[in-house]
Amino acid sequence: MDLNWPLMENNITRDDLDVLIEFLKGNPKLTQSENVRAFEREWSDWLGVRYSVFVNSGSSANLISLSVLKEISGPGEVIVPTLTWVSDIASVIQCGFTPVFVDIHPRTLSMDDAQVIAKLTDRTRAVFLTHAQGFNGLTERLLRELEARRIPLIEDVCESHGATFQGQKLGSFGWMSNFSFYFAHHMSTIEGGMVCTDDERVYQMSRMFRAHGLVREAGDETWKQAYVKENPELNPEFIFAFPAYNVRNTEIGAVLGRNQLPRLDADNARRIRNFEIFLSHLDATRYRTDFDLEGSCNYALNLVLRRPDPAFCRRVMDKLRECRVEFRRGSAGGGNQLRQPYLKGVVGHDEYKNYPEVEHIHFYGFYIGNYPDLPEDKIKTLCRILNELE
Ligand SMILES: Cc1ncc(COP(=O)(O)O)c(C=O)c1O
Repeated sequence: MDLNWPLMENNITRDDLDVLIEFLKGNPKLTQSENVRAFEREWSDWLGVRYSVFVNSGSSANLISLSVLKEISGPGEVIVPTLTWVSDIASVIQCGFTPVFVDIHPRTLSMDDAQVIAKLTDRTRAVFLTHAQGFNGLTERLLRELEARRIPLIEDVCESHGATFQGQKLGSFGWMSNFSFYFAHHMSTIEGGMVCTDDERVYQMSRMFRAHGLVREAGDETWKQAYVKENPELNPEFIFAFPAYNVRNTEIGAVLGRNQLPRLDADNARRIRNFEIFLSHLDATRYRTDFDLEGSCNYALNLVLRRPDPAFCRRVMDKLRECRVEFRRGSAGGGNQLRQPYLKGVVGHDEYKNYPEVEHIHFYGFYIGNYPDLPEDKIKTLCRILNELE
């Protein structure tokens, strides 16, 4: 059967493009300007934080957050998951921190909170938590422990826009939080990302890190004047506060983002429903169906085999290919990061073996696209096909 089911569909709609075309007809300024500022304000309101900084990708948001952490906290360790995107760990290394790895919890695919707590030391500069695949990765116990020990939390919400913990949106708990608007996610500005925070200092630093470290990029006059006063011999237009980057986005991305944000909650409600239908129709003896769905909001349908059975796994993949259902083995980031070549020399040769939960996802976990207009009968057909496999 041909299901013709890509990883993502219609994430930039005809209406988005029409709005963009109308905008372009006005011969507007295209570099970062008033639409970027408006999108940042609207995003902050939606999320429930004070400040947001629009950048060109979720990976850039990761890099900015870790760069700000390094400026403020100095070197040390950062606790990271084994199942995440490469930039969550690359940014830690690039900023000179030592990554300390934690296995995932099978019901949330996010870090196991007991293992995080066990690895906190006086060298821990932050916990960089990924809310994997739309699942909430926070627990009361973890938040309490971090608060008590004054260890900052940075949330990566790139895969979980709109998901909540105790009714509050993920990304509004941490000191900083990061989002991605790449095409495969809950909404898309083509490429794009956001750094969010309630902390004025982090906000000003993030704005500067986004644009070459330029002090004139800081939004606040007193902040700028302090640098000008300290550096009287420099042209105030060219004071570079940090060794930074250029990761700005454009008005085009912001116009798309502003048009999409008003429909994000409604789109997410349909995604939540799709995932519930998927899990309720899957054979629970062969596939995991006991994910922690409380507050979850998933742009993916997670298909995880119950048992480590390579032959069955091959049959599942063959069937998905035969039905033209696009999938990713190892979930979004390709499975156990510790197996990746970029970590050779950073972690021990056999270190990857110490994380059995992510190892299971690495070989027997998949994600399939979940988008708002995915027809219900298509989801049920796929479940029937998967359940018939021996
Ligand atoms: C958890 C997570 N963090 C960061 C990123 C990076 O986002 P981007 O692709 O926008 O660079 C991704 C990407 O898919 C991701 O899944």
